[in-house]
Amino acid sequence: MTTERIDYGSFEAAMAKSRILEKELENNPEKHKMLTGDRPTGRLHVGHYFGSLQNRVRLHKLGVPTFIVIADYQVLTDRDTFAGIAENVHQLTIDYLAAGIDPTDGRTFIFPHSHVPELNQLLLPFLTLVTNAELDRNPTVKEEILASGQKNINAGMYTYPVHQAADILFCKGTVVPVGKDQLPHLELTRVIARRFNHRFAEGNPVFPEPQPLLSEAPIILGLDGDQKMSKSRNNAIMLSADEDETARLIKRAKTDSDRVITYDPDNRPEVSNLLMLISLSTGRKPEEIAAEIGDGGGGQLKKMLTESLNEYFRPLRARRKELEKDPGYIRQVLKQGIQAARDEAITTLNEVREVMNMGL
Ligand code: TRP
Repeated sequence: MTTERIDYGSFEAAMAKSRILEKELENNPEKHKMLTGDRPTGRLHVGHYFGSLQNRVRLHKLGVPTFIVIADYQVLTDRDTFAGIAENVHQLTIDYLAAGIDPTDGRTFIFPHSHVPELNQLLLPFLTLVTNAELDRNPTVKEEILASGQKNINAGMYTYPVHQAADILFCKGTVVPVGKDQLPHLELTRVIARRFNHRFAEGNPVFPEPQPLLSEAPIILGLDGDQKMSKSRNNAIMLSADEDETARLIKRAKTDSDRVITYDPDNRPEVSNLLMLISLSTGRKPEEIAAEIGDGGGGQLKKMLTESLNEYFRPLRARRKELEKDPGYIRQVLKQGIQAARDEAITTLNEVREVMNMGL
């Protein structure tokens, strides 16, 4: 097996390449295929929205064909409970649609990967293209193992990045919008595509090497101002929260004792994060908002944040409420997504079998 060293680093290089790719997508959206995904571990919150969902919706609206994989098998890698998976898949789909993903455009598909057998089958040849040592070195997996607090790590944890390569390559995805933590998985996917082509399809490649697309979006901290926004840390505002709940949560947000509001992310992370959220929901600069509040203190800041977030998310939340009333429609969206994903996966698996000398 060819084993050039997998480069699990180089954030700056990925950022520079993303800017070039961004232009290319604007000019030729239909030449690409965007593949994105989430684990169904709960509903989406404001941090997900400004951190990634908004960017995906923007690319989708440029006209890039879009596959959204709901990675339900991956939920089993770092937790024991699976009780909420079906409900989470349903709620996640509602969040996507409410945020502006439009599956009625004929080129946008949402599906849970557990329903696409031919996608999952790609995992088997892919596993033979990487070494145990390479999987062991994946920095994101290492961090997740630490964070899971589990003593016995199942093999799914070490191999899910290979499964993720199947998620991306089954439809020959070319662009994957991701956060920094997913770059190692993308690099592994590219290595698998390259090694597959080299080993089985020299001169006539089966898979493209998909490119990660990093966005400029800031990392949104939770209302504690201390860690990334996350439902499990109890510091999140869900997209599905109503206006009163949003107001209540923001009232409890942490600020500091300096009444004069300034934008200073290094020294005043809590206040600056709240200013950033106002900025994202109004399009105004955080420094300008801070100057306007002046010595109005945390009270004024929170009032402004409540109003601007509620106003910004009002249309999304109204759509969300409508979609919640129609579970049959959500199921239909997923069924269509699964069907389209299977069509792609069957074609790819046939090609894969053929080049591996496993055709009949
Ligand atoms: N691993 C990703 C996460 O934890 C989810 C995911 C699964 C994914 N398959 C994917 C993301 C394919 C992008 C492309 O968020």
